[in-house]
Amino acid sequence: MEWWKKSVVYQVYPRSFKDTDGDGIGDIKGVTEKLDYLKDLGIDVIWLSPVFESPQDDNGYDISDYRKIWSTFGTNEDMYELIEEAHNRDIKIVMDLVANHSSDEHDWFVESKKSKDNPYRDYYFWRDEPNNWGSFFSGSAWEYDENTEQYYLHLFTKKQPDLNWENPKVRQEVWDLMKFWMDKGVDGWRLDVISSISKHTDFPDYDEKYGKYPIGDFHTNGPRLHEYLQEMNREVLSKYDCMTVGEAPGSTPENALLFCGNDRNELNMIFTFDHMSLDLVPNSHLGKWEVKDLDLIELKDNLNTWQNGLHRKGWNSLYFENHDQPRIVSRWGNDDKYRVESAKMFATILHMMQGTPYIYQGEEIGMINAKFEIEEYDDVEIRNAYKDLVLDRKMVEKDKFMEAVYRIGRDNARTPMQWSSDDNAGFTTGKPWLKLNPSYKEINVASALNDENSVFYHYKELIKIRHEDDVVTLADFRLVDRENKSVFAYERRLDDKSILVVANFYEDDVDFELAGEYRLDEYSVLLSNYKEFEKEGNKIKLKPFEAIVLKNY
Ligand code: NOJ
Repeated sequence: MEWWKKSVVYQVYPRSFKDTDGDGIGDIKGVTEKLDYLKDLGIDVIWLSPVFESPQDDNGYDISDYRKIWSTFGTNEDMYELIEEAHNRDIKIVMDLVANHSSDEHDWFVESKKSKDNPYRDYYFWRDEPNNWGSFFSGSAWEYDENTEQYYLHLFTKKQPDLNWENPKVRQEVWDLMKFWMDKGVDGWRLDVISSISKHTDFPDYDEKYGKYPIGDFHTNGPRLHEYLQEMNREVLSKYDCMTVGEAPGSTPENALLFCGNDRNELNMIFTFDHMSLDLVPNSHLGKWEVKDLDLIELKDNLNTWQNGLHRKGWNSLYFENHDQPRIVSRWGNDDKYRVESAKMFATILHMMQGTPYIYQGEEIGMINAKFEIEEYDDVEIRNAYKDLVLDRKMVEKDKFMEAVYRIGRDNARTPMQWSSDDNAGFTTGKPWLKLNPSYKEINVASALNDENSVFYHYKELIKIRHEDDVVTLADFRLVDRENKSVFAYERRLDDKSILVVANFYEDDVDFELAGEYRLDEYSVLLSNYKEFEKEGNKIKLKPFEAIVLKNY
């Protein structure tokens, strides 16, 4: 079996992980310093968000030199040391390939801007007239350049011009930089917005009814996408023992198989946005900033479709959190009275499914969302949306917008890692680049390690089960009692071996009758987030956010 099918990945957002030099910003040495902590948790792979030279308009997702570590994070030598130290502990390192766009300060773009006949002009998209495409970060996706009197395309900020993958030289540059890092020992890539690398080069306008600057199907899954990924696989990936996970907004279980189907020779898996969009109002004129309640049955159906759609044909990535998503206990659980129970419940549901689970830093101690004043947020997405939707176009009241920010804003996940209850949560001796979440006095690694009932030890158990039990890796997936509005239950079955996961998604007690072919007395408890498990015949009496893993073997 491929190693990444038995692996658990831990995402480090280096800026917020651990600062070792007192400048208030995390660094590579901080990651190296915490390797023993991660080894104790039991993870197999670290995915490092971008650490390359960058003006940091979008916290490193705007790269100006792909072969150099950003000096605030350290040096290339620090990175080589991290790779070596991680490998010494049997931990693999996956880097973030941000090649849909570069920084506008990358030499390629600096050249490209100079003149229409510059050899680098075709590294980017230049047009005389913009179409009506919107940027994911507000406003038009086109920026006018006075020097050459043309517009360039940027699906993200105007400091993130989109690279033109139609140009074979651009693709060769990307293959070369990937090889550069893989030859240094890097074990794979997370590929940023990979579903957008092929453009509809006729740039068709969207229907005006979707607003001034719509974002829709033309932003993703362009006509040459899979041709490029097969080339990448042929030229680079197939030459290394590596893992790949593509970030794929706009993916469905059907088109996921084009990226990661067993016979495709493209990527190992993708991150879908499908399940993480279920509490956003679709096609809202406020973009992602209009939220609604999650419907549990919709979530169950969604995950069920992905589990079954990819079973044996491809491979799922499993996640609830990352640096672009809020904290799951605050989003769909209870981040107060039942924080620990609900954090463990989400972990259980996710980690017992088929696929490769991803833990985002702090998720393993049940970190929660932050509630700041608008001026205290750093995220360019929040700042741009506030200016556009609240101040300029007055499409939403500030209070309503802030509610959405508290629920789904990206900085919820980006507050510094909470290592201890000491000053600045033990993250830095300086002034943190982003305000700490005041919860660090109670929620921190030191106290989690001292408490055998903490969220941390629950994750550790889940990881151990995945490593030891092939049923978790291989078994099929079947929803149990789909219509149940309070309980998320499913079975994993491999021949006559069966694992049952039963989770109360809410804070009211609920009785769950195990119907059909299941007989509770044939099962024993593998893991639970409560000390005692109450049953009566075939009925389980579930306490708030109780999650139980049962097995019959
Ligand atoms: C997705 C990344 O995860 C996000 O943080 C970034 O802003 C955009 N891609 C642009 O690179």
